Amino acid sequence: MRAIAIDGPAGAGKSTIARRTAAELGFIYVDTGALYRTIGYAVDHFGLSTKKEEDIIKALQKIHVELRFINGEQRVFLNGEDVSDYIRTPEVSMFASEVSAVPKVREFLFDLQQEIARNNDVIMDGRDIGTVVLPNADLKIFLTATAEDRAKRRYQQLLESGTIVDFDQLLEEIKQRDYNDSHRKIAPLRQAEDALLVDTTGNTLAESIDLLQRIIRNRLGLE
Ligand code: DC
Repeated sequence: MRAIAIDGPAGAGKSTIARRTAAELGFIYVDTGALYRTIGYAVDHFGLSTKKEEDIIKALQKIHVELRFINGEQRVFLNGEDVSDYIRTPEVSMFASEVSAVPKVREFLFDLQQEIARNNDVIMDGRDIGTVVLPNADLKIFLTATAEDRAKRRYQQLLESGTIVDFDQLLEEIKQRDYNDSHRKIAPLRQAEDALLVDTTGNTLAESIDLLQRIIRNRLGLE
């Protein structure tokens, strides 16, 4: 099985680029952020607080998370219910960032992620894939862009899905999440030593996809 790890901050284009590249190469695209989002969503949904570690740990006992791939598309199930469409709001983004700092949450999701990579050719995107989850990945990419650039893209994406948000607030939230994700004690966001740094600031999405695909094909010796 082959594995490509793509890590980087929120909004760098990881998911879009990884999804399209996986489809082209016949790999499964695994969006690990969806797992943390599902835990964050569940904690809040159970009437508990994502700011309290004991609440999060209590919630874990009542959570079963599963990824299913339907026509190559990842869907995430919480206790048997497809919650994929509920976990994309800015509110759930913040819940996800909060629960992801709790070691028990990371432990809870670790085996699930490894098992998928054991059984499939994967492009897995997240924050700690190259450093923790798949340290032996065939290729590791650290994808980044400035916070302003990333906020602009997220704003556009949300707009296209019919959600209007305040740009300055979105930018602040991105900066706050960057800070949380890279300063937490456990598995912080950082570039693995053997990861390739790709900065997509100023690129169009098409340019970034093209660049990434060339890198991946070249490094994995694919035609
Ligand atoms: O990629 P995303 O924006 O959907 O991720 C949501 C949150 O989950 C993000 O703030 C950090 C956390 N996360 C993580 O800690 N480790 C991962 N492998 C993926 C996401």
